[in-house]
Amino acid sequence: MTAISATATPPSTPVSSPGPRRLGQVLSVVSQKGGVGKTTTAVNLAAGFARRGMRTLLVDVDPQGSVRYGAGLRRGHPTHGFFDYLIGRTGLREIILPTQLPWLRVLLVGTVTEEASHAGYQALVADTDILHDVLAEARARCDVVIVDTPPGLGPVVRRTLEASQHVLVPLQCEPLALQTTPQILRAIQDIASSNDELTLDGILLTMYDSANPACERVADYVRAHLPADIVLDTVIPRSAASAEAFAAGQPVVLRDPDDPAAQAYLELATLLTERLQ
Ligand SMILES: Nc1ncnc2c1ncn2[C@@H]1O[C@H](COP(=O)(O)OP(=O)(O)OP(=O)(O)O)[C@@H](O)[C@H]1O
Ligand SMILES: [Mg+2]
Repeated sequence: MTAISATATPPSTPVSSPGPRRLGQVLSVVSQKGGVGKTTTAVNLAAGFARRGMRTLLVDVDPQGSVRYGAGLRRGHPTHGFFDYLIGRTGLREIILPTQLPWLRVLLVGTVTEEASHAGYQALVADTDILHDVLAEARARCDVVIVDTPPGLGPVVRRTLEASQHVLVPLQCEPLALQTTPQILRAIQDIASSNDELTLDGILLTMYDSANPACERVADYVRAHLPADIVLDTVIPRSAASAEAFAAGQPVVLRDPDDPAAQAYLELATLLTERLQ
């Protein structure tokens, strides 16, 4: 397999120097429900890790392909990605894209985004070991590999979890939030019975709005009904800067690092760094 490297170009100003090479960790971001902040979390955590000098690869396996719009890619980047590698259209090296952060590289999902049906992509991911092999290779060359996944518990998410060491579940602070949480937790538990490396890092409350009493009720309910160690203390506030940064094609942790959501993502990156060591 072609090499994946998050260090192809020497960094200019890393926040800190990386340590000696170790096997990296794959952290996937999953949720049963759509629109809960998975991509925002994946993009900002990846930037947060890279800012800390960790060799980071952000992988998009969601055929919606949203990472492309929020990861701070350079203008005119190639649009080929994982799907194009799956169907033999490209090698891996040329689709590992640089970003404005020296330690952050991105593997987009590729041209499947433009296809009317994603069934062929899903079948290829389900029926081959290619995703597993790509993530294993990435792990060998990076400190951390963040995977943004499609909503639901389809074959792409299952295959991703089979190849992950860590999983994070964003849960949007809104009244229907708890409806789908048991299913995703059961699926993680189910996959963990055959992938004993898989650890649930926690449920991450997202888009928390302190001015909205319903939001606070959901957060309280979630904390009261799920085991305490499952719900992360860090909560991501709803912030206009977060949505604006995404629209401007950048992680909020880079565009507006003092924004409360950016601060929360940076705090989360610090917390998870300790667990990934
Ligand atoms: N903390 C936040 N504050 C304000 N807006 C946010 C925040 N987090 C995410 N959003 C916005 O909410 C929308 C959904 O977020 P995002 O795309 O990250 O969700 P997702 O779970 O990846 O969705 P999908 O299931 O479709 O992949 C986007 O418009 C995003 O900009
Ligand atoms: Mg998404």
